[in-house]
This record gives sequence, C-alpha cells and structure tokens, in this order.
Amino acid sequence: MNNDVKEILISEDSIKEKVKELGQRISKDYEGESVFLIGILKGSVPFMADLMREITIPVTMDFMAVSSYGNGTSSTGVVRILKDLDFEIKDKNIIIVEDIIDSGITLSYLVDYLKNRGPKNIEIAALLTKPERNKVKVDAKYIGYEVPDKFVVGYGLDYAEKYRNLPYIGVLKEEIYK
Ligand code: IMP
Ligand code: MG
Repeated sequence: MNNDVKEILISEDSIKEKVKELGQRISKDYEGESVFLIGILKGSVPFMADLMREITIPVTMDFMAVSSYGNGTSSTGVVRILKDLDFEIKDKNIIIVEDIIDSGITLSYLVDYLKNRGPKNIEIAALLTKPERNKVKVDAKYIGYEVPDKFVVGYGLDYAEKYRNLPYIGVLKEEIYK
C-alpha cells in the first residue's frame, strides 16, 4: 500500500466486479442502441477505460475537461469548461462518466450545459458518491459506491494531481493535506 494512504476503502478486485456490473447494466438498458460516453478529465480516465470494455453495445466517446477545484479538497462552486467536446451530441444517448459526486455542482452544471445541445437523453455514471456532502441534487443512474465524507484517492482520484494511478480507492492520511 502507498505510504500516504491510511486505509484501503475499496479494493482493486471489488472495483473490477463493480465496473463489470455497471457495464452489463448499461448494455442491457440500451440494448439495440449505442451510447456516447463523455469522460470528465482527468479523474474518470481509469473508470472510463475499464467501463467501456465492459459495454457490449456500440460505444463512441469523447472527453471534456472542467475545473471546479484547484488543488484544494473542497469545491469552489465555480465550474469552468477547459476543454469542450469535439463531436456533436444531438439525438445521441449520452452517459457522462465521472469519478465522484461530491457537492454535485460539477455534474449538475454539465448536465444543464449539455442538454442545450439536444441529446436524446443524458445519464450519469459515477464510480463514487459522497451522500453526506451532496449539496445539489444530481440524478445519477449508474453509481458504483457510496463513500463516507473522507478525502479519497486512487483509481483516477487525485490530491494535487497525485495518486491517480493507485489501483484501489484509499483514504489519504490527513497530514498529507493539512
Ligand atoms: P463536485 O462538483 O463538488 O461534485 O466535485 C466533483 C469533483 O471534485 C470530482 O470530479 C473530483 O475531481 C473532486 N473530488 C471530490 N471529492 C474528492 C475526493 O474525495 N478525492 C479526490 N477528488 C475529489
Ligand atoms: Mg479532481
């Protein structure tokens, strides 16, 4: 285990199973159709890469980059689009793929932003959600796990851009960010 990690919250094996299950659900829900995945950089990268390979219907994908955080551990409430989509989403089945729903500000903003472009529908796949911290209501159809109000890293989630490569979800030692 990485030295800066206090405990492992979700193991690599558990994540693998969960992502498989989510991919199967998506494949079934959209049977006979295709989905357009939108990964939110950079936290969604491992989840996106694994999830797309568990989806058995046709998939296309794109990425967006938004900023709401800086290097801190809580949301500023301000969402900026740093990289927009390269493709049109009109009449497509959109699934936004995100690492975690914390306040919910990022995703609720993004859903409104993308709805204006006339997709057929928009759903959300988030690996994690922190129910105790959800401020804005976000309707996420595909959720991996509910996690407690602790700062977590790994499997895409960072603190100051580090730890994204850990294969598990771990709780960061407080002394690292205090
Ligand atoms: P929201 O807009 O407050 O829902 O923020 C969502 C974003 O905050 C996520 O995409 C993450 O980048 C970041 N975030 C929230 N909680 C954590 C955490 O526990 N660890 C790492 N990043 C987090
Ligand atoms: Mg982040």
